[in-house]
Amino acid sequence: MLGGSILQSKHCLGLADMSTEEMTEILDNAVPMKQVISRDIKKVPTLRGKTVVILFFEPSTRTRISFELAAKHLSADTVNVSVSTSSVSKGESLFDTARTIKALGADLVVLRHPAAGAPHILARLIDVPVINAGDGMHEHPTQALLDLFTLRERKGELQGLKVVIIGDILHSRVARSNIWGLTKFGADVHLVAPPTLLPAGIGQTGVTVHHRPEDALVDSDVVMVLRLQRERQREGLIPGVKEYARLYGLNAARLALARPDAVVMHPGPINRGVEITDDVADGTRALITDQVANGVAVRMAVLYLLTLGREN
Ligand code: CP
Repeated sequence: MLGGSILQSKHCLGLADMSTEEMTEILDNAVPMKQVISRDIKKVPTLRGKTVVILFFEPSTRTRISFELAAKHLSADTVNVSVSTSSVSKGESLFDTARTIKALGADLVVLRHPAAGAPHILARLIDVPVINAGDGMHEHPTQALLDLFTLRERKGELQGLKVVIIGDILHSRVARSNIWGLTKFGADVHLVAPPTLLPAGIGQTGVTVHHRPEDALVDSDVVMVLRLQRERQREGLIPGVKEYARLYGLNAARLALARPDAVVMHPGPINRGVEITDDVADGTRALITDQVANGVAVRMAVLYLLTLGREN
């Protein structure tokens, strides 16, 4: 493990406010964490005696499980709270939930919430570190950090990589965090989506916007595919799922436009046959399972740096 943390904030709320040096510190700390996970006994006593509360107001498989594994590998105690099993289902507010968590002695809270900015509000309500595990359509910083880690591991340098992000960018917190992270590291970021699935003003964030995948994919090093968020679709944003798959889905023919060593990423969960075909998702160029595995190491690094790393 490395020494005391340079992280400026007590919390991990988004990559918009994080410097390249701070992100690098997290990625560097994830390297020894990955070594811990590769051992027969995947446990170090680093966070023994600390309690991590994992508070999810939205469904999750990857993020929730990997935060829990990350905390357990570091010997922290974990408490899982979800809407269906907590008093939130009886109408308890975020404020009262936060007060309860604080009274129970949490050392760190991981929050996923459907409202953009909810982790920022929680961070003001309690005096323990808060990690944003996805807030509405705003940010998903640890997903982008694990994507950066996976890319750095595979490609070495992030500077100068041509990264194409293709899909439902309007509703994607993963896209927003990755745009912040990748552009800060000097990647050449291209977005592809129908005009109705792009946020207003996104072209002013240092990215290049396209409406046809074929225009963006040529010579790309990385193709990051996003899930079509059908649960967040308002009526009429796309003509239909089949039409979307035909015009925007990543298939072998479109991937052939990218560089021969280009890699394919997807944060999951995947709509197979919609934004990506089975052969591409399961192909040798896909890093999707590496992303999931690296998520544990990156989240171990974030947990460590926000708790013990700050005390060193
Ligand atoms: N990538 C991601 O956030 O997946 P989950 O919704 O399963 O956590």
